[in-house]
Amino acid sequence: MKHLIAPSVLAADFTNLRKDFEMVNSSTADWFHIDIMDGTFVPNISFGMDIVKTMHSMAEKPLDVHMMVAQPERYIEQFREAGAEVITVHYEACPHIHRTLQQIKATGAKAGIALNPGTPVSVLEDLLEGLDLVCLMSVNPGFGGQKFIYQTLEKTRKLKNMITVRNTGTLIEIDGGVGLQNAEVLLKAGADVLVAGSAVFKSKDPVDTIKRLKGIGKDTVYV
Ligand code: DX5
Ligand code: ZN
Repeated sequence: MKHLIAPSVLAADFTNLRKDFEMVNSSTADWFHIDIMDGTFVPNISFGMDIVKTMHSMAEKPLDVHMMVAQPERYIEQFREAGAEVITVHYEACPHIHRTLQQIKATGAKAGIALNPGTPVSVLEDLLEGLDLVCLMSVNPGFGGQKFIYQTLEKTRKLKNMITVRNTGTLIEIDGGVGLQNAEVLLKAGADVLVAGSAVFKSKDPVDTIKRLKGIGKDTVYV
């Protein structure tokens, strides 16, 4: 499968969201990555459901909703109604993660689990079956524009191996500090979805940056 590119709207221009949404619509990006931060699970606060609903009305591509929220089970149906296609919750925020995944699935959305940099992929051992996506955080969640944590490469390789052995088809998404400087090595390690905020929206030509991120590995067979 060709890898997917998911620009993170957190780095968009909030004074003109429509312009940035149209830019992504017109680009070769695959998803919109929407960061939901609650000020409790992470120190920052970002978007609520009404804004996500508005974003959905402007988006011509699926919304990938990353919930950095304590007790996310309180809001899953609301984000689905707001237009989320993929709903990802943090392993560290869910005491009953298996139940929460079932809850996401019941809404018809694709279900994902995000892992903080300090959480090993081994915690997914009994969760992989039926899991659509794993989001490996390559920065500590809460803010855009942080430095990529290189340990994520080894985690990606380990997780890719688990997924291949179990044949679950789970997608690996990498989130935080991703850009043209590390995209290729991440894809080689097994990444399927690259989230990029600052690298896209702060670049001179965002459409071209997306095209270059999407074009990496074309005609290359990764083993
Ligand atoms: C971090 C968020 C990321 C962030 C990525 O907490 O989950 O999605 O927006 O931004 P960049 O690509 O700028 O690191
Ligand atoms: Zn995110």
